[in-house]
Amino acid sequence: MIHILLILSSLFTFSTHAAVQDFCVADLKGPESPSGYSCKPVAMVTVADFVSSGLALAGNTSNIIKAAVTPAFAAQLPGVNGLGISIARLDLAAGGVVPMHTHPGGSELLLVTQGSITAGFISSANAVYVKTLKKGDIMVFPQGLLHFQVNAGGVTSVAFASFSSATPGLQILDFALFANDLSSKLVEATTFLDDATVKKLKAVLGGTG
Ligand SMILES: *[C@@H]1O[C@H](CO)[C@@H](O)[C@H](O)[C@H]1NC(C)=O
Repeated sequence: MIHILLILSSLFTFSTHAAVQDFCVADLKGPESPSGYSCKPVAMVTVADFVSSGLALAGNTSNIIKAAVTPAFAAQLPGVNGLGISIARLDLAAGGVVPMHTHPGGSELLLVTQGSITAGFISSANAVYVKTLKKGDIMVFPQGLLHFQVNAGGVTSVAFASFSSATPGLQILDFALFANDLSSKLVEATTFLDDATVKKLKAVLGGTG
């Protein structure tokens, strides 16, 4: 009997020591590093860290681009931290557009669930891949490449975008070029645009310099 207990207890010890780290739920109180957030102690992890209802609601599209992106990245869904995965909801009102942008941290897979969206990306060889997607269609946007989405249905369109990163990041081209405080002279020199165009875009998008 003692012998069996000893075997059982050694098995138990073995299995706990052999356990891999199943997850690394984001500790949002700490800073985020290139490899994500540090792990919240397992004893403090609850199912709420792995669940979000935020994507059930339509985003507010009353803005200049008539679009809303509702993310479930590590900051909103701490359970995805370290898993190389996340998702967001896109609401595009009639006339809405997600301007040319990139996600430096991950590739994107877009699934249209309502309406119709013209989407495309530009490769580093400057080849264009563009298609009007309808409900049920998916399109993939490789990591780091410039891409866009435009409502093509005349009614509100909805899509869900999953990412190969818990924190895919976002850089919007027009904001990067014209909402910065780089001098107009340097923006002109590096974009080949004329002075009036650069000054106008800086004024519209909130750049200084
Ligand atoms: C949507 O955003 C607009 C502009 O910020 C605001 O005026 C409006 O109240 C918001 N609507 C809802 C339902 O939150």
